[in-house]
This record gives sequence, structure tokens and C-alpha cells, in this order.
Amino acid sequence: MTRIIAVSSGKGGVGKTTMVSNLSAALAKLNKSVIAIDGNTTTPNLGLHLGIPLYPKTMQDVMMGRAGIREAMYRHGDGFSVIPADMSVEKIMTPQPHRMIDAIYRLLGESEFILIDTAAGLGSEAAASIKAADELLVVVNPDMASLTEALKLTKVAEKHETHVIGAVLNRVKNEGIEIGKKEIERFLGIPVIGTVNEDYAIRKATAERSPVVTHSPKSLAAQQFTAIAANMAGESYQIRMPVFGRLFGWLRF
Ligand SMILES: Nc1ncnc2c1ncn2[C@@H]1O[C@H](COP(=O)(O)OP(=O)(O)O)[C@@H](O)[C@H]1O
Ligand SMILES: [Mg+2]
Repeated sequence: MTRIIAVSSGKGGVGKTTMVSNLSAALAKLNKSVIAIDGNTTTPNLGLHLGIPLYPKTMQDVMMGRAGIREAMYRHGDGFSVIPADMSVEKIMTPQPHRMIDAIYRLLGESEFILIDTAAGLGSEAAASIKAADELLVVVNPDMASLTEALKLTKVAEKHETHVIGAVLNRVKNEGIEIGKKEIERFLGIPVIGTVNEDYAIRKATAERSPVVTHSPKSLAAQQFTAIAANMAGESYQIRMPVFGRLFGWLRF
């Protein structure tokens, strides 16, 4: 059975693409088959995060009827498949979001997981991904702006009868001013299934166009992504605080 999971956020820049590239790599490490799709055809960047920005065929070609979905699918070195979107101006002008839904359904049965990196917000493009998906993972940051937009997103999911798996709390700095996990769960009415700290290792991995899960597998962030992937796959994973963090973690409090 294929689980189609949209990874979305109300607000932009919260870490959706980072989440999709890392969950894909982490699920692949857990021996799951995964297809990562760039469902953000107007401002695509999944290919950039994965170090493969130039493709002969992309999601837009599929949506325009110029390529079959399998022609636009590429194998990433970390053990999963990717369907990127084209970043050129003429291609980002063309999308008709509903066409993406048909294209994604043609992949049913091809892998255990299909992860869609969606457009931010509640526009027609984001809605198309949420409609296509069976499940929704909401990416939030611990601030009010991100949470109020996320709340609207959960309503859109309800409308399309897409099951909300829960929220993932990204860019946690453990500063006193941050909104905590319990408050977020109460506000959104969904569980927080994982947390990813603010981690330099992520920015470094992104700059070097690789998921941190494979770039720095021992980093705290890599382990936190792995724990979320394990949760999604119904498995358990124990995070081991890196030695540096264990020695100096207490200094933060
Ligand atoms: N937990 C984190 N720690 C440090 N940097 C992060 C973290 N999550 C995301 N980033 C960085 O923030 C930027 C935006 O993330 P991205 O995944 O592109 O957001 P979105 O897809 O939601 O717009 C990227 O450069 C990424 O490396
Ligand atoms: Mg993105």
C-alpha cells in the first residue's frame, strides 16, 4: 500500500523542503521505498536541496502532458526517488494544480511512501497537494505567526478529508520565549510527533546540497529526523545526544 503524505505549512520558510529531503533519506535508511515529489511548482526547490537542480524532464512537463510521470522520476544517491519541479520562469508560469493530482495517482503501488513538498499557505497549489494526499504532516516553528497559519491548514485538510498525522516542530532553540509543545498541541488540536532543533549541521548540509541525515548522521538534527521517520513507519528510534551536547547541554539552563 502506498501512503501519500503532504508535508505542508501555513507560513513559508519553516522547513518543509528540509523535512521532505530528510524524511525521504531517513525512511530509505529504514529500508522503506520512497518517492519525494516537488509539489511546489511555482517556487520549487527540492531539487536544489538534493543537489540536482537541472533535470531534462520535470513535474511541469508531466502536468503539461509532455512527459509521463516515470520519465520525470530520478534516483537519488541516498536511496529514494525524486520528482523535481523546473525552476525556469516559463515553466513556473504553466502549472494547473489539479493535473498534479492525476499524475501522483499514477504512482500508486510504486512505493511505500510518497512525500509531497507542498507550496506554503492555502492557495490552489497547496490545496491540490493536500487533496491528492491521504495524510498531512504540518511543519511549524515555535512562534505565533507559524501556528495561526498552521491552524488554517488543518481546516483545509478537514475539508479535503485528509488525515492529519500531526505537527513537526522545527527550529527549536529552547529559548524561554518559545511556544512549547503542549501549548502547540492544545492550540492546533493535533499531536506534535517530533521536534527538530535549530542546528548548524542542517544549514551546512543544505549549503552542500545534501540531507543532514546522510551528511552528518550523528548530529542531533539527523537523529531527530530519523525519529520522526521511524514514528511515521510505526517503528521506534532512540535519539542519542551527541557527546558535545551531553557535556555542555546543561550550560543552556
Ligand atoms: N532546524 C533547522 N536548523 C537550521 N536551519 C534550518 C532548520 N530547518 C530549516 N533550516 C534552513 O532554513 C532554510 C529554509 O528551509 P526550507 O526547508 O527551504 O523551508 P520551506 O521549504 O518551508 O520554505 C533552509 O536554508 C534550511 O537549511
Ligand atoms: Mg520549500
